[in-house]
Amino acid sequence: MSSLGKPYSLKALSLRNRIVMSPMCQYAVDAEDGTPNEWHFVHYVSRAVGGAGLILIEMTDVEPDGRITNRDLGLWSDEQIPAYRRIVDEVHKHGGKIGIQLAHAGRKALDAEPPVGPWTEPFDDTAKQPRALSTEEAWALIGRFADAAARAVQAGFDTIQLHGAHGYLIHQFHSPGINKRDDEFGRDKAKFGVEVIKAVKAVLPPDMPLLMRVSAIEYAEYAYDLEHMLEVARAYRDAGVDMFDVSTGGEGGPAVKGKPGNYPGYQVPFARAMKDALDIPVSAVGMLDDAELAEHVVASGDADLAVIGRAMLRNPYWAIDALRRLDGTADVAKPYERGYHGRR
Ligand SMILES: Cc1cc2nc3c(=O)[nH]c(=O)nc-3n(C[C@H](O)[C@H](O)[C@H](O)COP(=O)(O)O)c2cc1C
Repeated sequence: MSSLGKPYSLKALSLRNRIVMSPMCQYAVDAEDGTPNEWHFVHYVSRAVGGAGLILIEMTDVEPDGRITNRDLGLWSDEQIPAYRRIVDEVHKHGGKIGIQLAHAGRKALDAEPPVGPWTEPFDDTAKQPRALSTEEAWALIGRFADAAARAVQAGFDTIQLHGAHGYLIHQFHSPGINKRDDEFGRDKAKFGVEVIKAVKAVLPPDMPLLMRVSAIEYAEYAYDLEHMLEVARAYRDAGVDMFDVSTGGEGGPAVKGKPGNYPGYQVPFARAMKDALDIPVSAVGMLDDAELAEHVVASGDADLAVIGRAMLRNPYWAIDALRRLDGTADVAKPYERGYHGRR
């Protein structure tokens, strides 16, 4: 059997295989009140039918103005819980596990008037100028992350992922190029993220793993390097993160260091580096579309899980197709069996 097809466990989270659907905002869909609708239900449940081991619901924000756009999902109200519960229950019926990515867009909140962030510099020349959060407001936002996490637990999610990557609020706080504060959240760049982790952990069942996506490096003029991220991630690990999902970039500003380019597996070396340095499970993401490449990433030990983004937008059955290619067989939903084994 392929490594990709092997079950995987982290605390109470038991996956049928090592294939993860990456969190991906569905912006175009009308979700003005931040609550998942029929699109989201079909979209996520389809990937469970399609064989993914773990499905991560897109960036879901802890307050309305924390959304990138007003069409993004949120979990700031108890009234939103049932719509998530419906997705969770149906994904479980199809053998998948499901987590939710909790976030705040900070200075990248396009529709907020104004957006807030650790500091007053905008994301780029076209973005609105953010208002710097007061120390009290930063603490209040930490509480909102915990409230949203408690709602996610009520909705039945198997795990939670904190979005600490791609230039959103947690990333903004740990980026020395963005966070110019001189309060407790500026002197210690990891403090905001650490406090979010601790507050969220306090409301999770003790056996539920906490995942966190981070950008291992930035690309802008002021970019931090891997050494900086390792130091921050060590603090995040010690505060309670059980697995890092390793991405890069997204911070904004001119990219003078140059991106490594979007070639298959371009972020995998960073996942390996974080795993080795921190002795913690990691998942890798970024153009792992080819089943053989995803298999290599997991079989080599570069990462524990392979996270698939756009390829799963194109093909909800990516996991079934990958496992059939690697192993010659894969479990499929009963009504679809004849599509694979039956005669015409
Ligand atoms: C439409 C779209 C929406 C995305 N939304 C999110 C998101 O909500 N959270 C996140 O961490 N990354 C988001 N991403 C990034 C993906 O999760 C993934 O990291 C990236 O596409 C690279 O993986 P891939 O090459 O397999 O697509 C998004 C990407 C796309 C294409």
